[in-house]
Amino acid sequence: METILVTGGMGFIGSNFVHYMLKNHKEYKIVNVDKLTYAGNPENLKEYESFDENLYKFYKCDISDFESLLQIAKREKINYIVNFAAESHVDRSIDNPDIFLKTNILGTQALLNVARKLNIQRFIQISTDEVYGSLKFEDPAFTEDLPLKPNSPYSASKASADLVVRAYHKTFNLPINITRCSNNYGPYQFPEKLIPLMINNALNDKELPVYGTGENIRDWIFVEDHCEAVYLVLKEGEPGEIYNIGGNSETSNLNLVKRLLKILNKPKSLITFVKDRPGHDLRYAINYKKIKQELSWEPKTKLDEGLKFTVDWYLNNQEWLNHIINEEYLKYYDKMYKNR
Ligand code: NAD
Ligand code: TYD
Repeated sequence: METILVTGGMGFIGSNFVHYMLKNHKEYKIVNVDKLTYAGNPENLKEYESFDENLYKFYKCDISDFESLLQIAKREKINYIVNFAAESHVDRSIDNPDIFLKTNILGTQALLNVARKLNIQRFIQISTDEVYGSLKFEDPAFTEDLPLKPNSPYSASKASADLVVRAYHKTFNLPINITRCSNNYGPYQFPEKLIPLMINNALNDKELPVYGTGENIRDWIFVEDHCEAVYLVLKEGEPGEIYNIGGNSETSNLNLVKRLLKILNKPKSLITFVKDRPGHDLRYAINYKKIKQELSWEPKTKLDEGLKFTVDWYLNNQEWLNHIINEEYLKYYDKMYKNR
């Protein structure tokens, strides 16, 4: 049996990937390494807590800690690494960039060193479309050959990591792939990000803080479609290649929030326009022709269907949500939104 080391597996996309793999690709053992920051939530993988250790194992560990990682990777005889672990929220990176550079760049490098030392078969770096910077409304969508022009400390740290991953391929011949995906949504997303934050606020009849005019556009992808794409890249991707992953669902923030309100049957009067995010990227859009042609992947979930599923998930998992809305979260919320 081959073993995949998944980092950041207690976070939003990482935990969805672990669920996806343990359900659909039982031929792999999954070893999950996570530091358990505010965003790492063991409840995301509760059903695997006392699972067969030959199929799934969790280690609390920082990806910047090379020695501990190496020990785990040797003990578990890992074949592949999929690196989801990161500080992932743009607003927090504006507030305090330091940890973003440390985890996202140096953490990735420590993992690359483990991969090199153990001659692993494939290293997948989970990157983001945000490394390309911002598009104008009329621009064509991002392709993989564009220059990197990140605008936030978060996207700059992800772009830097991409360059280091690429260099380990060119210099040391490490078999890598980089995936650059658009905005994900779905179960287990921490309510600092747009969709779960708006759902949680609407459920509590709290104001919905839309930045600026709400005209900014994102291309939304249902998280399970992203997970499937990552699996295909791991299995069939050409070493050294970069793959864009998109949802084929561009929409403005304001439109998205209105769609959520409609599903939740809440009034539009909850929407409030607040001070814009500094350096706020106007638009992201993904051209995913390459992964479609080479790996026959396409997003399956239509935005309306995925949003309905997601809202239902949050409605049915209010206990999960309530555990997150603790003192620390409320402090964060006040800091970011009070008097904004
Ligand atoms: P998340 O913030 O929900 O989860 C991040 C996870 O990484 C958490 O479990 C956290 O505990 C863990 N982590 C953080 N620092 C760590 C460290 N030093 N060592 C070990 N674990 C650490 O993030 P997410 O939204 O699931 O994003 C996962 C990855 O996907 C990130 O690399 C992000 O850049 C990328 N990405 C996210 C999106 C999106 O829309 N959320 C889109 C494209 C790409
Ligand atoms: P976010 O979920 O933080 O993802 P990203 O910044 O990585 O795209 O935000 C998505 C969009 O929603 C972005 O344009 C900023 C906007 N936004 C709001 O208008 N209000 C909010 O409270 C949040 C969190 C985001």
